[in-house]
Amino acid sequence: MNTKITPEISTKIYEEFASIVNKKPQRKGRKYKVGVDLGTANIVVAVLDENNKPIAGAMKAAQVVKDGVVVDFIGAREIVREMVGYLNEELEGKLTIAACAIPPGTGEGVSKATQYVVEEAGLDVVNVVDEPIAAAKVLGIEDGIVVDIGGGTTGISVLKDGKVVYIADEPTGGTHFTLVLAGHFNISFEEAEKMKLDTQRQKMLAPILKPCMEKVAEIIKRHTSSFGNIDTIYMVGGASALHGLKEVVENTTRKKVIIPRYPIFITPLGIALFCEKG
Ligand SMILES: Nc1ncnc2c1ncn2[C@@H]1O[C@H](COP(=O)(O)OP(=O)(O)OP(=O)(O)O)[C@@H](O)[C@H]1O
Ligand SMILES: [Mg+2]
Repeated sequence: MNTKITPEISTKIYEEFASIVNKKPQRKGRKYKVGVDLGTANIVVAVLDENNKPIAGAMKAAQVVKDGVVVDFIGAREIVREMVGYLNEELEGKLTIAACAIPPGTGEGVSKATQYVVEEAGLDVVNVVDEPIAAAKVLGIEDGIVVDIGGGTTGISVLKDGKVVYIADEPTGGTHFTLVLAGHFNISFEEAEKMKLDTQRQKMLAPILKPCMEKVAEIIKRHTSSFGNIDTIYMVGGASALHGLKEVVENTTRKKVIIPRYPIFITPLGIALFCEKG
């Protein structure tokens, strides 16, 4: 079933998912679609039913993947096994198939390693999708600029007719904002990360983070300015939620920026939407 995701459906999917992630599943479905997102900062497992309704989800901070590449296979395997194991137990052993994703342009080796991690958790991988394509599916777009600001990198993709026609990946992401705070306040990375994620404090921290925001914005501008006919940028990935970043990117790129309410869940949910036997 290749359902078209309208903006209303899309909002419903990520709002619902945000309310159930890391909680005991309250509902059951007949069949499940599973999306596994192995990120630099977080691993997310998203479970939808056959009508794309979020059923369960798990998210765990982990440093087993770097910029889309599995760097600690055993660590990744153990974490995914545990997450899938828990969800499968709650959902009566019905999680059987999954989709996973890789950054575009990373090639066969990366794709296989990601796939093996998921298969070792007992799931049959039915699809390995490009991350921005997964995000675009949830956003209900086939054309446009998708910028994914995750932990390690900012990935820029331009989509045309549902295909990626341009990609760039630059090593500045959420981690760098944390490092700026750690340096500024002379505190540990962990303390700085906590400070950054405190939404009450983000407004006050914005002036300190502004140069790093401008760097991200310049990266986005450099890779998108030649696409003069595209005037909107969709920003996903956890670091997109940083207070003030939207405005800095809009001012620098002169394009309109749309950030969905829970940017951190967009790619994982998109991956789950691709969990269909082809
Ligand atoms: N509300 C928030 N405000 C600011 N930053 C946030 C917020 N929530 C998460 N982040 C940051 O987002 C980053 C993680 O985002 P995400 O989970 O999308 O990355 P990832 O997929 O693991 O990494 P990558 O895509 O680079 O491999 C972390 O640096 C985290 O600090
Ligand atoms: Mg990511």
